Amino acid sequence: MNPIKLPARMIWLFKPTLLGLALSAAAVNLLPAQTTNPIPLLQIKADQITGLVSPTLYGLMTEEINYAYEGGLYGELIRNRTFKGNRTQAIFWTAIGGAAIALDTNQPLNTALAVSLKLDASLATKQSPAGIANSGYWGIPVRPQTDYRVSFYAKADGAFAGPVTVAITSADGQQTFASAEVSGLAGDWKKFEVTLKTKNAKPSKDNVFNLTTTTPGTIWLQQVSLFSPTYKGRVNGDRADLSQLLADAQPKFLRFPGGNYLEGGNLKDRFDWKKTVGPLEQRPGHHGPWGYWSTDGFGLPEFLGWCEDLNMEPVLAVFAGYALNHQHVNPGPDLAPYVQDALDELEYVTGDTNTTWGAQRARDGHPAPFNLRYVEIGNEDWFDESGSYDARFTQFYDAIKAKYPRLQCISTVGNEQPENKRVHSRKPEVVDEHYYRSAENFEKEASTRFDNYDRNGPKIFVGEWAAYEDTVPWNKKSEQLAPTPSFKAALGDAAWMTALERNSDLIVMQCYAPLLVNVNPGGRQWRPDLIGYDALNSYGSPSYYAQKMFSTHHGDEILATDVRDLPADLIQKLFFDATRDRRTGKIIVKVVNCLGRPQPVKIQISGVAAIAAKGMAMVMQADSPEDTNTLQEPKKIIPVAEAVTGLGTDFTRTFPPYSIMVLEFDAK
Ligand code: AHR
Repeated sequence: MNPIKLPARMIWLFKPTLLGLALSAAAVNLLPAQTTNPIPLLQIKADQITGLVSPTLYGLMTEEINYAYEGGLYGELIRNRTFKGNRTQAIFWTAIGGAAIALDTNQPLNTALAVSLKLDASLATKQSPAGIANSGYWGIPVRPQTDYRVSFYAKADGAFAGPVTVAITSADGQQTFASAEVSGLAGDWKKFEVTLKTKNAKPSKDNVFNLTTTTPGTIWLQQVSLFSPTYKGRVNGDRADLSQLLADAQPKFLRFPGGNYLEGGNLKDRFDWKKTVGPLEQRPGHHGPWGYWSTDGFGLPEFLGWCEDLNMEPVLAVFAGYALNHQHVNPGPDLAPYVQDALDELEYVTGDTNTTWGAQRARDGHPAPFNLRYVEIGNEDWFDESGSYDARFTQFYDAIKAKYPRLQCISTVGNEQPENKRVHSRKPEVVDEHYYRSAENFEKEASTRFDNYDRNGPKIFVGEWAAYEDTVPWNKKSEQLAPTPSFKAALGDAAWMTALERNSDLIVMQCYAPLLVNVNPGGRQWRPDLIGYDALNSYGSPSYYAQKMFSTHHGDEILATDVRDLPADLIQKLFFDATRDRRTGKIIVKVVNCLGRPQPVKIQISGVAAIAAKGMAMVMQADSPEDTNTLQEPKKIIPVAEAVTGLGTDFTRTFPPYSIMVLEFDAK
């Protein structure tokens, strides 16, 4: 829709408008400034609304990567609780006090968990209790005055008469933080539950969970579980500190369950949602594509519970017959069972309790249906070299529309992919585009990428994106870098977000990926990631705070902007956008200065009678773009709010070096 061909570097700050307003004027204004006036002029045209900010613009994308759920958000503290992480050994479990342990397929709990841990405690004595220990995901966290819920299935041989003791102790065994006795083990499987309460312990993480006995005998165990308190007290719920960080950013939607995690390494290991619902002990678990086992304790009901806890709209991705090993299911009769699975999944999420899968959801603790608007068909299907996606998409689309006409279908192949990979047989309501780029590249693309998009085409979901510093995410060198990004990347993110927000008449949703990373060596499969943590502590990267600044400060109307007198070295280094809150009249301006010098900018606001002299600024800046947050310095770089004065319809403000700023002021 841009009739005038501008050199790419000159159109970076051009405000896209629905009507294509004032293109030629903008082109003239974008010429680099002459030396006479080095202060750039930012014009905000408050009487020109170029579109509405999508109310669902800011959200979250997650999948099981970097120990995001198990070893992360999921409240379970025991690693390999079902002993299925390895076929031959009880990995992450150790025998203590002369015990012998082995996997036993002759004493299965059920067909889903068709193996148990055999604990031979025949040498157990009062002086030397025998049992097992688990050190969780790089430690079991201990906090003072805290309740930990222990549960496990157990049976014992006829000779075993004693109780078992469950405890959380320091790794060296010197300190016991909490312990409890459990009796009643007998010849049949039974579930046992007990609460461990800590006293005045100092917070620590180098601890282990033990289950021991002083009575000789043989015990079989399955699903040995330890939960610390969860966010909002949800049973089988989420870790509180991570949930709070996420809630603080007020995300409006959750895209799940992937990502590659949806597809699986092969068809068998896809996210097979029916195996992730129902009682936990009926979930067999599966190998995730990121190299570790998933118990599927964090399954479809838990994703939905998470949406509910954080008031997010679910954006459900359904498996569409393509796995990461390039296996695809032929469209037609072969694909039909997968389409049916997707329809059943939609029924699970949205159906009444008198439907088969709606009733299952009710049995899983949630009788009320969830609201669902978007369903994504697959993930990154441009990797499918067979060219089957168009037909697979069509088969899913037709079946979904026949039963759920109001659902909007998202194609996983967007405009950033070659034309021949995109869907042509149907018109997807939305297409998902993914961008993993360097900060420089984002700064370049921020201004041009979406400006020329067809406003009558599908809406855009930027369903995965992140700026990285210099090293590509999958490069070897990235292993030596911090798992979360530096401020340089956050500047690239913020520049990019000005473009997403400015174009949010078209871009209905956007989400950074990946979201979470367990920072322990061995815990990371990808960088950069938004939020880092170990067993005890967590922190938001500068990119997280940039997201939060944007998602918690925006209006609902996009205002036209223009720039004049821009010095040449500020091209692709200074970014902004402006929105207005219709209800309050407040104008919210975001300015990103990627240069290492303070930058005065003259700001003129037209189309309003008056601007209040006092407003608010939220500023995030760093001394060096290499600076970042870590577990040790979690808040080194965070936004700081300050009162501002001297505002009006024409004022000059200096933006600090390497800074992201939100300016909010009242307008009449
Ligand atoms: O976010 C990490 C991975 O990047 C996702 O699983 C996949 O969709 C993309 O290639």
